[in-house]
Formats: sequence, C-alpha cells, structure tokens
Amino acid sequence: MSIESNFDIEFTARLALREKQIQQNYRPIIAVHKWFARRPGTLFRSLILSEFKNQPIDQTYYCTNNFEGITIADPFMGGGTPLLEANRLGCNVIGTDINPMATWIVQEEISKLDLSKYSEVAEHLLSYLEDEIGYLYKTRCPITGTEGVEVKYFLWVKTGICTACQQSFDLFPGYILAKDVRHPTYVLVCATCGDLNEVEDPANPGFCNCGEVLQVKGAVKRSQCTCPHCGHINKAPFHGDEPPSHRLFAIEYYNPELKDRSGRLFKKPDADDIARVEKAQFLWSNINSSFVPEDDIPKGDETNRLHRWGYKRFCELFNSRQLLALETAASFIAQIKDKRLRCAFATNFSDLLRYQNMLCRYDTMALKSLDIFSIHGFPVGYVQVESNFLGIRKHNGLPVGSGGWINIIEKYSKAKRYCTSPFEVVFQGKKKKIIEIGGEWIGEHTPKSFKPHSRTIDLRCVSATSLNLPENSLDAVFTDPPYYGMVQYGELMQFCYVWLRKLMGANFPGLGQTTTRHQNELTGNDTASRGIIHFAEGLAQVYSRMASALKPGAPLVFTYHHNRQEAYLAVAMSILDADLTCSASLPCPAEMGGSIHIHGTGSSIIDTVFICRHHGSTVRSSLFENASQLARLVQHELEELRNAGMKPTEGDIRCIAFGHITRIAIWHLKSIWDTDKTTEQKLEIIRNTMNEIATLDELTIELEHLEPRQQVINFGLFAVSEAKEQHDAITF
Ligand SMILES: C[S@@+](CC[C@H](N)C(=O)[O-])C[C@H]1O[C@@H](n2cnc3c(N)ncnc32)[C@H](O)[C@@H]1O
Repeated sequence: MSIESNFDIEFTARLALREKQIQQNYRPIIAVHKWFARRPGTLFRSLILSEFKNQPIDQTYYCTNNFEGITIADPFMGGGTPLLEANRLGCNVIGTDINPMATWIVQEEISKLDLSKYSEVAEHLLSYLEDEIGYLYKTRCPITGTEGVEVKYFLWVKTGICTACQQSFDLFPGYILAKDVRHPTYVLVCATCGDLNEVEDPANPGFCNCGEVLQVKGAVKRSQCTCPHCGHINKAPFHGDEPPSHRLFAIEYYNPELKDRSGRLFKKPDADDIARVEKAQFLWSNINSSFVPEDDIPKGDETNRLHRWGYKRFCELFNSRQLLALETAASFIAQIKDKRLRCAFATNFSDLLRYQNMLCRYDTMALKSLDIFSIHGFPVGYVQVESNFLGIRKHNGLPVGSGGWINIIEKYSKAKRYCTSPFEVVFQGKKKKIIEIGGEWIGEHTPKSFKPHSRTIDLRCVSATSLNLPENSLDAVFTDPPYYGMVQYGELMQFCYVWLRKLMGANFPGLGQTTTRHQNELTGNDTASRGIIHFAEGLAQVYSRMASALKPGAPLVFTYHHNRQEAYLAVAMSILDADLTCSASLPCPAEMGGSIHIHGTGSSIIDTVFICRHHGSTVRSSLFENASQLARLVQHELEELRNAGMKPTEGDIRCIAFGHITRIAIWHLKSIWDTDKTTEQKLEIIRNTMNEIATLDELTIELEHLEPRQQVINFGLFAVSEAKEQHDAITF
C-alpha cells in the first residue's frame, strides 16, 4: 500500500488550508493565468509522494525528490495543478483538456522563459502605454491640488432611461461606496448631487453639503426603480434591448504626497475627468481596430445572464477607454519578434482582461476590484469598477491597487521564478519559513541548462473520452475532473479565448478552434442539454481508457465533491465500468471558505480524494456496513480536520459521507457489476446500494448520538495507529 498507508489527513489538510487562503503565496505558478477550481498543489504533492515514496508523508514532503522514469497522466488538466506537481517531482507527464485555453495555459506555465528578456520587454510595454494612453488614467488631487496623480479605480453606475419622461437616471442599489474597514469612515454618495460624504454612522448619515438627506439604500429594488425626475416606476431591464450604459460617479486615486494619511482617497469626478472619458470615447470611435474581437456571445447556462442584460457580443463588456487601452497593448504585443516572449505577453494580456471589463465590481470593504471571475459566472452588477490599465507603483516599486499591467507583470514574474526555484512554506509556531526545494523545478530542462530532456511533457487539447494511451504505460493517473455542473469552463473561458485568438491569429498553434465550448465537455449544462447521463458516460469512458493504460496495481486518483448524490452515482459508475476498486476515500480541504462563490452558500470546501486500483489493498478500519459505523469514521476524520485548523460545516460532512458511501457501494457492486446495463439502470443500482448502506438522514442521527469526540478516537477499530498498519489491510 502506498497512498493508503502513507497519506496523512491532518498533515495535508493543514497544508491545503493554508494554501487555499492565499494560493499564490504557496503556488505562485497559478498566477500565469486564471483557471477555475484549482485544487491545492500541496494536496497533489502529498498524494504523489505518498504513492511513490515508501515513507509517511511528513518525512518526505520537504525533501528534494526525483521520480525520473515515472509517467503520470491527467486527462482533465485544466490549469495544471496535478501535472505541475508531477513534473516538478521529475515525472514524465501526459495532460489533456478539451478546452484550448487550458492547454495554452499549462504550456505557458511549463515553458522555459528568459526572465531578464521578459522584464526588458515589460518595461518597454509600460513606457509605450504610458506615452500612448497614460494621460487617460490621471486626475487632479482635490486635497493638494496636484495634477496628474494616478487613478486607482474609476467607479461607474449603470443608468436607465425612464419609459415615461425619457430622462436618464442612476441605478444605485445602495449609496455606500466604502465601509469603515480599510477607510476611517463610511463614504456615501449623495443621491441628489453625487458628492461623496464621509460618514461616521451609516444609521444616521445626516445631510450632504447640498442640503439633501443622505441615504444608504439605493433606488433599485427588486428589479424596479423609481425615476427621480417624474416618479414613474421603471422595471428591469432599464435600457431596452441594448447593453446598459454607465455614468462615472467616483474615483479612487493615489497621491504619494498623502501616503501618511489614513484610509483611501476618493473624489467625485471633475470636468477634466469627464473630458478624459470623452477623449477616450472619441479616440476609440476613430480607430480601425485590429485586435478587438467581434464574436457573439453564444447562449449558455452562464452567458444567458449577459443576454438578459442586453450584451450580445463580447466586446460590449468593455468601455471605450478599456477597448482603446486593450487595442494599444495588443498592437505592441503583436510586434514582439521573439515568439516565446510574444506568447508570454499574450497570456498576460488574456489574464488582464478579467480586470479590464465592465463586469468587475468594487469591494466596498476591501476597497479593491473583484474581477469578472471572482465567482464562477458572469456577475453583472449595478456598480462596476474600472482599474488603472497600466497599474501603479509605489516609490519602493511595489504595486498599488489591482488589475493593471504592473500587477500582472509582477505576479507573472514571481510565477516564472518559482518554476526554477520552487519552495514549500513551513510554519514554526506563527512564523512562516520558506524552504527552497533545491533540485526540483517545473519544466522540461533543468533551470541551469538546455540539456536533453530528462522528463517528457505531452500536452494535448483533445477530449479525454477519445484519448488512446498504450496499455501498461502509466504509473499513475492524478486528476481533478469536472464536478458535474459546478463550473462551465467552456462558456467562461471563451471570454478570454476570443481575444487571445484575435491577438495571436487563428493559425497560431493551439488556437485553431473557433470556440472553447465543446459538446463533449463533461459538465452538466441545461442549455446544451447535457445531463447526468452525458456526464456519467463520458467520465466512464475516460476512466476506462485510463484504467487500461495503467500498470498493474497503479492508482487512478482524483478529487471530487458535490452536494448532490446524483453526482456521486456518476463517479461510482465510472469506477465500476473501468473495472477498478476504490481502496480509499480521503477528505481534504480544497477550496477557500471565504471565497465568494463558496461563502454563505452552505457549500463544502472538502473534497474526497478517491484512490482506485485494479488490485491492491485497503485499510480494514475504513470499511463499514451501516450508518452507525460510518458516523464513527466520519467523526474521526472530522477530528483530524479540526486538528488541522478547519471548521467543518454540514456541507463538508455531507461530502465526506458521500465519498465514503460511494466507495463502499463500489465494494459491494464490484463482483456483480454488469457493464452491459443501460446507464439509467446502472445509476439506479448504485443509488439503491448507496441508500442501503447509509443515508444522510441516518448518518445525521448517528452523529448526534455519538460520544464526545475524544472518546470516539479511542474506538479500537478506528484508531489511527491501527488503521495505518499493514496487517490491518485487506487485499483486493
Ligand atoms: C476541475 S477542472 C481541472 C482543474 C485543474 N486540476 C486545475 O488545477 O486547474 C476540470 C477540467 O476538465 C476539462 N474537461 C471537461 N471535459 C473534458 C473532456 N471531455 N476531456 C478533457 N477535458 C475535459 C475542463 O475543461 C476543465 O479544465
């Protein structure tokens, strides 16, 4: 046994929890480009080491390791987490993804880059942008009177046209621009004159200088808005069939002369600020664009929201200044002669897009931009933020604010430095220590030279349902498949892809496909009529193909979570159809509790890691027959997760339980599994088997009846020491 005996839930959970708080500090490589639902790199490092080093994970984790000659595949590579960990550990890797953006991104992550040349070009780009468009991001500081200080953020409110009086009105859902967290007071916009007011107590906001009472609640309520001019009640959409229009109502700026002042600097736009907006509009309307895509936004589960708001083409999600700035940057990048560098800057450009569009929202607490992908959808709000396109540097060179080129270049440089000097972070008490893991690197060649390949990298943009790998060629599969319908990868990434393709050209390798959408994407999607049958059959095909390529006893390891049983039926069917057995189902935190798409949704941050093999052994104490035994197992794991610093929720418990019940259902069904049955029949058989083993209701009752946690740990059958010993294993 390998993972089954060496993996340590508490040790790994602690690493994963920390990583997911600020993933870029632990795995800077992710900053090469946004991808969705990236699992913790620390988790996959733990899994690979547990499998290939015959030692407990805490003894190998911080050491240099080299698994030269071992070949690992990831059929759903996405942003590349498992693959990069395997590559860093010296393995040969084979990765596929159906989405051309994913293949592009992993290629970019892994390809060698001359960082000094990159920095040189980056400085040229910044000075070119400064000369061409820098003046559009300046303002006058009303406090010191200084001209030409940098705008951090422009804040825009959507406007509507009254159907009765035809006048334009603002669509403020609320008038709070800033809360008193990062700023000493609240900042409220006056509904009448638009002045910005510093307010101590929003419950008693008082009066604006114009004499009107300040308000907190805005005029838009439940998709209705009363026209301030004639009192008519307008209903959404407030702009007919067209994309919404916006009005600049506030600016957050940076004035180094006031660096010692507490809080942020806000102003109501003055005539010059409005003139800059008009200048950008004028310039943009007179440009013959070469790089702005004209592509329509196709309908979809996520994109239908954009249609409801009147957006029909991707370019409509940007204002004139953003389009002008993007065109200017793209024209520079297109001229970069060195292909490797051109790709790097095109990747930066694509990633920058998520901050440079009119779907970004302003976080009134953290006072920063929330990019378009801060949730896994296209969140249209009434108030949007436009970041400074170039970005701002403080006198010490560090960036201020977010969403500009300077931020992207800084993050990307860190990411590429990490490839040649990867590290782990260890805590001694509260003190953080960076441990460089010398002798490991990300890429094909050693960082020092272009010596012949000592590890191979095979990346393909194909559907894994049609991937053919030779029999007995893989030492392991480590993957993170789509979690049924949780993220619409194809729909979302098209937002970037249409720009990247336009910039690099449709003939550029990897950009031949016209879209990132694909009927074989293994996600549930109502618009594309992809349901659980499509998902289950597709996943089964992929796992069967992977299973036949695995060496005897080699594992197929994947993470998974969902809050519906249906999604686990598909997982069980795929494992059974692939003729595998599930030897372990291990819990590990894999998301950030506070992340916007998780927070307050009751969702789980826990993944189950499924370990599947043709044959091997399993820990006897992980087997159970009913809800009461399952409750003890779950309780024990919760204890380990709590020891690691996690506060498991009901959603987490549900996912842990589903993982275990799925595993045991596979044990029950393995010997009688009939692959010839229809998918509907197979799913029904699995559902019945799972329900016979334990239901969530039964588990809840059992958990409530359990003894206090400390006593549970002492139950012999479930004790950690016993569970880890070889003699307590059952072979299959
Ligand atoms: C959960 S994500 C992987 C995330 C990845 N591990 C990471 O770290 O970013 C699942 C991936 O499966 C891909 N995918 C979906 N259907 C596929 C198919 N039929 N063949 C290959 N990849 C597919 C999606 O495009 C997505 O990138």
